[in-house]
Amino acid sequence: MALSDKYGRTIRDLRLSLTDRCNFRCFYCLPSGKPALARKETILTFEEIFKISRIFVSLGIEKIRLTGGEPLIRRDVPLLVEKLATLKPQLKDIALTTNGFDFPRYAEALRKAGLDRVTLSLDSLRRDRFEEITGVDALDRALAAIDAAKEHEFEPVKVNAVIVRGKNDDELADFARFARENAITMRFIEFMPLDSDQNWTREAMVSGAEMRDLISAEFPLALKETKRGTGTSWKYTFADGAPGEIGIIAPVTDMFCGQCSRVRLTADGQIRTCLFSVKEHDIRSLIRSDASDAEIAAFIESCVYQKEPSHNINAEKFVQPSRSMSFIGG
Ligand code: 5AD
Ligand code: SF4
Repeated sequence: MALSDKYGRTIRDLRLSLTDRCNFRCFYCLPSGKPALARKETILTFEEIFKISRIFVSLGIEKIRLTGGEPLIRRDVPLLVEKLATLKPQLKDIALTTNGFDFPRYAEALRKAGLDRVTLSLDSLRRDRFEEITGVDALDRALAAIDAAKEHEFEPVKVNAVIVRGKNDDELADFARFARENAITMRFIEFMPLDSDQNWTREAMVSGAEMRDLISAEFPLALKETKRGTGTSWKYTFADGAPGEIGIIAPVTDMFCGQCSRVRLTADGQIRTCLFSVKEHDIRSLIRSDASDAEIAAFIESCVYQKEPSHNINAEKFVQPSRSMSFIGG
């Protein structure tokens, strides 16, 4: 059994946004903290999330990633992970994307509950800048989260940085050094037009090719795999054999929509088949009715079938989606 869309792509990867709220105010995502937040009663309960996930897994989903907003703002995330882990082995992988602020105190419980992997964010290695970018003076917490991930063997630990011109593009080599010294994977992401204040400009975006060249100038890189597979990043190792890895994610200049294997569920129960979807599919109403599993499965299949061929950031008529990344989930 597998979900597929009308372009023949197989969908194996479900991203669950647990909340549209966040304790950070990253300027590239949720600077003012206010696209209108979803009303509390519209937020899916863990029971509802589990039910939807169970049906998705019965349809062939193999990976689930918990995102937000900041997913660890929800209470008892380890309990949800434990429930989701009962869907293994059909479900092969449970991952979490977090800004790290609350990660150290949950790391052990998450591990025990069955979390397989974690992706953390770190947009600057300088304390004042970290605060400027995220709105919170929490570089120490972000670094502690990386240590906690290593300590609890969420290896390889992946750390994301959104690179924006004039903000942190001068830190690329420092980040690469950090990856080497800590034997982690640093992934650099092109700034996408998904910020709630709609301040994205093409000039502010540093292209993947530019990032790669800036790093290579200091630490020569070797392409690790010649294919990107269904992953989104080009993977590099250090040519001198040092530990650590670099990933370059270039959704704008080097689109990977043709290999996309993802579908998303927002915190308020809307299926989104693309980060840039302008249309959402209301599965919340359906599961709050007396619909059978078979009806819900049929609904999911029809949503996925309609998945967009690609984003159109590079088209003249591009319309930025009204929901920011904090709502959609990374
Ligand atoms: N462009 C690129 N990446 C973004 N993220 C959030 N907003 C944007 C954006 N506008 C990333 C964060 C985090 C993940 C959840 O999404 O850095 O790693
Ligand atoms: Fe919060 Fe992540 Fe958005 Fe930053 S990028 S505001 S940490 S959800």
